Parts: sequence; structure tokens; C-alpha cells
Amino acid sequence: MTALRACGVSELELDTPLRVELDGVAMAIVKDAAGDIHAIGDRCTHGDISLAEGFVEGDTLECWAHGSRFSLLSGKPLNLPAYEPVPVYVVEIDGDDVLIDPTVIKEV
Ligand code: FES
Repeated sequence: MTALRACGVSELELDTPLRVELDGVAMAIVKDAAGDIHAIGDRCTHGDISLAEGFVEGDTLECWAHGSRFSLLSGKPLNLPAYEPVPVYVVEIDGDDVLIDPTVIKEV
């Protein structure tokens, strides 16, 4: 599959996750304070919670339910109770378009 348009760069607010679905794959798109754009699976690995409803701090995304923080770079949980990583995706920027192939999980 080729990369699909997830959203516009101009739609993203700093540190405010945007939930999108690409070909049935839910993910949270995050523009962090450094201006970097990340795509991380939307489902917390601890429970059935949308990570797009969580809180961004630096390059991490915190699940609001029980406080596990996930690295936006690797998807790895940085604290319990979650212990399984969330997939992260390669993001390409083309003009104002945020492009992601939902079938390709970033190797970290
Ligand atoms: S559901 Fe996310 S930390 Fe518990």
C-alpha cells in the first residue's frame, strides 16, 4: 500500500492528538512542541482506551485512564501498568499533507 493522507499539517494543534483512521487502522497524530509530527496506534495496550484522548508531554503520550506514558518515537511504554508497545508509523510530509502507510510499522 502507498501512503495515505491522514490530515493536513495545518489541522494539527501543538500537543493535541488528532484521531484518524486510515484503511481501518486507528492512530493518533501528534505534533509535539519541537514541531515533529508522530503517528502512534490509538489503542492503549493496557485497556480499551483511545490514546488520542491522552496528554502529550515532550515526546510522550500519556493514557488518561491509568497514566501509562508511551514514547511517540518508539511506541514503548515508559511506565506501568502498560507493558506492551503501541505501533508507531512512518510519517511523510508533502506540502500540507501528512502521509502515512498504515501497513508499515516503524522499526525501532
Ligand atoms: S487503559 Fe491505558 S494505562 Fe490503563
